Amino acid sequence: MPFIIAIDGPAASGKGTIARALAAHFGFHHLDTGLLYRATGAKGGDPVTAALSLDASDLARADLRSAEAGQAASRIAAIPEVRAALVDFQHRFAAQEPGAVLDGRDIGTVICPDAAVKLYVTASDQVRARRRAAELGADPEEMLAQLQERDRRDSERTAAPLKPAPDAVLLDTTHLGIPEAIAQAIAQVNKVR
Ligand code: C5P
Repeated sequence: MPFIIAIDGPAASGKGTIARALAAHFGFHHLDTGLLYRATGAKGGDPVTAALSLDASDLARADLRSAEAGQAASRIAAIPEVRAALVDFQHRFAAQEPGAVLDGRDIGTVICPDAAVKLYVTASDQVRARRRAAELGADPEEMLAQLQERDRRDSERTAAPLKPAPDAVLLDTTHLGIPEAIAQAIAQVNKVR
């Protein structure tokens, strides 16, 4: 049985950084599931068709990290048929030995409800906006408004809304540096490994 680590949380909470570090530390595969939604939104046309036909070149596009791609992703991610079209890929990815780390919004709640470890990574809105603004070279105030709009849409949608799984461990990175956040995540995994 592969060991699955599910990491969820709002935009720019640090979940991607933590997921990458856990995968490197434990020698597991890593999937940033946000990339699937970003690539689907960026591909254009009918979003269900786009989701079903994603290939490596769609996922390698350089423009997927932009704030616009994030907003487009969040809009198509509210469509249940789009989410359904991406389930198989995520399940196959999670089934790889010796284990996999998946990060997103619904990994612990919908995609991998039986994951061995579930983390829900958060940080204050201000800190998340500052981090993402620094990363993208954008204005922090504008970034704050965008993140809040995206989080609201992701949390309020009916299909797989952003929320912690009942058995998820909360990891608040507001006052944590990257090394501390990673160390706490590794400690959580080591509890059950
Ligand atoms: O994580 P990232 O910011 O790249 O995700 C972009 C958007 O994709 C999110 O705002 C969310 O709407 C959607 N998403 C999702 N479920 C996931 C991962 C991402 O709905 N598992």
